[in-house]
Order: sequence, then structure tokens, then C-alpha cells
Amino acid sequence: MGNRLVILTGAGISAESGLRTFRGNDGMWEHENIEDVCTPRALRRDPKRVMDFYNFLRKGLPSHQPNAAHIALAELEDRLGDDFLLITQNVDDLHERAGSKRVLHMHGDLMKLRCTHNENHVFLFDKEETLDTKCPFCGAGTRPDIVFFEEIPLYMDQIQEALRECDDFVYIGTSSVVYPAAGFKNFAKQFGAKVTCLNLEIPAHDRDTDVFIQGKATEIVPKWCKEFK
Ligand code: OAD
Repeated sequence: MGNRLVILTGAGISAESGLRTFRGNDGMWEHENIEDVCTPRALRRDPKRVMDFYNFLRKGLPSHQPNAAHIALAELEDRLGDDFLLITQNVDDLHERAGSKRVLHMHGDLMKLRCTHNENHVFLFDKEETLDTKCPFCGAGTRPDIVFFEEIPLYMDQIQEALRECDDFVYIGTSSVVYPAAGFKNFAKQFGAKVTCLNLEIPAHDRDTDVFIQGKATEIVPKWCKEFK
């Protein structure tokens, strides 16, 4: 059985919770060099630098709260049950704290670490990761459970199947420049889904998207969720 509605969220949905988006004015990647903190090479060259970057983000997360858009999506999931799937590019936990359960963190999860010897050893972690942090399953070293650039996102088989089978694909608060997520709309459309975009800015040319709704996530997402049948 497929998910009737598949949602993809990006950093824009958490912007009004006070979390920085990645691109554009004052975005994360204006302050940090991707090559220093978000590539496999960076992890090999200077793992402490990489860990400290994600330690800083992890530490700050509890002071940010889910907003009306996260909450509206959790309520929509309550209504639709297994007909609903949420894919997020975000590594924050605001969807979960809003009550979402069917969530796939395709770019990883800030509140988890991963073993460096066995990628299936993933565990919750809310402290500061150091070079001495050990995997609780096998005692090997750890790394942030973050999908770096040049790495393959998580859950791709499950995501592909959901995109093939859904009736509606909706993307919210993402600039749609990072692949493979940026290609989901095209893929879902080819398999017959209606494609809707909810975002602060509307891209000039986009032949895959059927409906654009422009505005702040906290205003447009609750309204759209309420009206979704
Ligand atoms: P971006 O920062 O690229 O894009 C954020 C989008 O949200 C932009 O299109 C903004 O116009 C929009 N936006 C900003 N504020 C908004 C608001 N209040 N309401 C609605 N929309 C708003 O973030 P992503 O597309 O999520 O990957 O970036 C994708 C990936 O690139 C991230 O997952 C991350 C990054 O590098 C990794 O770290 C691997």
C-alpha cells in the first residue's frame, strides 16, 4: 500500500523556529565552509572540527520549539495515518517534537551518532561528541549521524517507492537545489502525482510543479493542511 500524500520539508519550515536556513542571506553556508564540516574528507582530515560544529548545533536545539507548520503536519498525519509520509532534509527534531511519527530523516539526525565501523549502529545522543566517544554496541569510534555532501542519503528505496505510489507530492521550505531531494518532484510527477510547492519564494521556471503557494510556513502550511482532502 502506498502513501497517498508524501511531503518533503527543508530548512524553511524551521526558519520561524529560529533555526538558520542553509542558503541565501545570512544562511548557514555563508558562515561555515562546507568543505570544513560537511564532507567525508573533512571528517578524515579534522574529525574534531566536524564534531564540534554538530555539537554546537545539537546543544542549541532544545531552545528552539516546533512552530505552527510542524504542528499542522503532525495533525494532518493523525488524520491520514498510513496514507501520510513525511520526508525531511532537516536534521533537527522539530517534526518529532511536534508529534510526527512517520518521518524519514534522509540527511540524518542531529540527535543521533553513528558507529564508524558499522553504519547500522545508530544511537540517540544528546551530549558532546569527542574523539573518545564510543559506539555502545561494539566500542568503535563514532561520527555525527549526518549525511555529508558526496554521501548517499538515507531511506532511498523506501522514498522511491513512496514517490512512485503517491497521489500528492508536496514540498515545503526547500530551495530544491540539493539532489536527490531536488529531483523528487519530477520523479513523483512522472508517476502521476499532483505536485504542490509551499515556500517563501517561488522559482521562476518549474515545469514539474502544478500548484505554488507563496508565504511564510507558519501561515500557509496550517491553512493548506486544513484544506487538504
Ligand atoms: P535552503 O536553505 O537551501 O532553502 C530554504 C528554503 O526555505 C528557501 O527556498 C527559502 O526561500 C525558504 N524559506 C525560508 N524561510 C521560510 C519560511 N519562513 N517559510 C517558508 N519557506 C521559507 O535549505 P534546504 O533546501 O533544506 O544538507 O537545503 C537542502 C540541504 O542543503 C540541507 O538538508 C543541507 C544543506 O546543505 C546537508 O547538510 C547534507
